[in-house]
Amino acid sequence: MQTIYLDHAATSFPKPPGVAAQMQRYVEQIGASVNRGSYDAAQQVGLTTLRLRQRLGRLLGLADPAHVILTPGNTWGLNLLLWGTLHPGDHVLVSAMEHNAVMRPLTQLARRGVTFDRIPCDAQGRLQLDAVEALLRPETRLVVLAHASNVSGTVQDVAAVGAVCAAHGIPLALDAAQSAGHLPIDLAALGASALSVPAHKGLLGPQGVGALLLRPDFAPAVEPLVSGGTGSASDSEDIPPYLPDRLEPGTPNLPGIYGWEAALAYLEQVGVDTIAAHERELSTRFLDGLRTIDGVRLYGPDTADGRVAVFSLDFVGQDNAAVAARLEEAHGILTRCGLHCAPSAHRTLGTFPRGTVRLSFGWSNTAEQVDRALAAVTAVSAG
Ligand code: ALA
Repeated sequence: MQTIYLDHAATSFPKPPGVAAQMQRYVEQIGASVNRGSYDAAQQVGLTTLRLRQRLGRLLGLADPAHVILTPGNTWGLNLLLWGTLHPGDHVLVSAMEHNAVMRPLTQLARRGVTFDRIPCDAQGRLQLDAVEALLRPETRLVVLAHASNVSGTVQDVAAVGAVCAAHGIPLALDAAQSAGHLPIDLAALGASALSVPAHKGLLGPQGVGALLLRPDFAPAVEPLVSGGTGSASDSEDIPPYLPDRLEPGTPNLPGIYGWEAALAYLEQVGVDTIAAHERELSTRFLDGLRTIDGVRLYGPDTADGRVAVFSLDFVGQDNAAVAARLEEAHGILTRCGLHCAPSAHRTLGTFPRGTVRLSFGWSNTAEQVDRALAAVTAVSAG
């Protein structure tokens, strides 16, 4: 049986043409480190790394590539942001839909004297915008939001929160794990000071690499999380004060950088607008079909507006883990069930601790695959 991959929210698969080839080319034919040699291959690696920063800046709305900090992934980038900016006594606002990549570091920071509040969200996961202002305190240092939920696909009205933050001079940071590559994003237009992304989801690159984009006026607030060699200012035992070196010690994931650069070249060529329109069509088709199926409850927006193509379903009266197993075994549909590393989001949606079965569509899925998924959901929902 041919499987249908519907787990793009966990990681995109397959990767676009060129990603694996560039990773292999780096490992087999280039091999040099970055910033550590002056021979030709090392210079080429430096240029590819710069091209990656430039592509990310163009894609996400940040002009200066030096402020695109390459990280070992989105979790790392969010930890760098939180540990790097918060001190005992500081207060943070987050949404009630955050992933544990934000909530776990914040829980650790809370043991060190940082406090946080959750901005309430409605039953579809949407921020209650009128609650934001009242939750701000004189010691609020940061507002952090999941741009789109990895559980319900809900996209937040970030620009509205950005306007409140700007009025109070508080930086807004975005976890764009589920929106980057799925929706056009302009960091400046959203009023964000920082934005963290993984390579391996909607940005179609490999695992183990990501980026934290920092607006230049906010960047000095971020202290290095780890320190070490940068290949620059080697006469000093202190980390250089300039970016990106200050926040990028150690040799980076160069095969990952080559693969990601190729993925972004593909994304630029196809256009995020085109991918967004394609995924919107898939969403509409899936939601239209879902309305005709009994015994399944959708959590999150029930139209393609204000969402990405991530759908959490509860198969009423059935065990969702068993449902996910049947979807795979009988129909070849690959999903992710459970709590999706986001207990806060599931509490908000009313699906904690039971969890849901999540189907998430991406660039490579087709209308025919949506129909097959709907047929499988119909069959499994009948018990
Ligand atoms: N956060 C990823 C997911 O939602 C891994 O599956």
